Amino acid sequence: MKKIAVVTGGASGIGLEIARKMRSAGYAAVAWDLKGGEAVEKEIDLPVVACDITSESSVAAAYAETVKRFGEPSVLVNNAGLQFMSPVDEFPVEKWNQLIGVMLTGTFLCTKAAIPAMKRAKFGRIVNISSIHGKLASPFKAAYVSAKHGVIGFSKVVALETAEHGITVNTICPGFVDTPLMRKQVKTQAELNKISEQEVIEKIMLAPQCIKKFTSTEQIADMVLFLCSDSASTITGEAYSMSGGWGMGQ
Ligand SMILES: NC(=O)c1ccc[n+]([C@@H]2O[C@H](COP(=O)([O-])OP(=O)(O)OC[C@H]3O[C@@H](n4cnc5c(N)ncnc54)[C@H](O)[C@@H]3O)[C@@H](O)[C@H]2O)c1
Repeated sequence: MKKIAVVTGGASGIGLEIARKMRSAGYAAVAWDLKGGEAVEKEIDLPVVACDITSESSVAAAYAETVKRFGEPSVLVNNAGLQFMSPVDEFPVEKWNQLIGVMLTGTFLCTKAAIPAMKRAKFGRIVNISSIHGKLASPFKAAYVSAKHGVIGFSKVVALETAEHGITVNTICPGFVDTPLMRKQVKTQAELNKISEQEVIEKIMLAPQCIKKFTSTEQIADMVLFLCSDSASTITGEAYSMSGGWGMGQ
């Protein structure tokens, strides 16, 4: 029987690649994203369950629909996220709440929903997509950096609580990955720093990396697959950077 894998934010960017690679590897992969329905499923050629992960009732409904259509998930990839940049003294509280809501509270709510079935199955794999900003900071990213640091702490707690049930919980911390979220940021950084988009890529984004390349969505997806494999059955509570050497050793 196929293992069921839920990928939050699986309709775009990194999440979409993860879901596609998991399907190719033999999982029944299901994206949870803000928009679901037949049109979206057709567009991305993947099952998509509509879910706002900031809402516990929406997560419960998405979980029930997933179980009805596919079965109980044994893999959860907490990937949904978004960015908003502003100096902290001008940071709108609604944006702060939204970023923390999606990336930290959303990770908590989806994990909370997924764990009971994983405990019953005595098997589970949870992979959280944090960021290199889960380990270090950059200006104008107060909410993002706070949420992503929180995800690493949260993952360690869940790893401790669930190890005896055959569940592992690990975190991936990418540097910049070329996705719609990243491209939007190039524009914002250019405006905030009053430089061109090319300068943003060279002087801001790739400057702290010793490998001057963006990490690809495929590389992140391969890491997720590895962390879900039997070879990784004794790895838990870890946070792996994939950041071209940015923040090495942290
Ligand atoms: N792209 C990068 O450079 C980069 C670097 C480090 C970490 N990350 C992290 O990787 C993850 C994916 O980023 P991406 O670049 O693929 O972004 P993306 O914008 O391409 O995709 C994010 C997805 O999350 C979904 N989403 C947002 N809010 C949601 C909600 N409330 N409920 C359900 N789904 C929601 C969006 O609809 C979208 O499909 C994020 O957590 C991001 O912080 C990205």
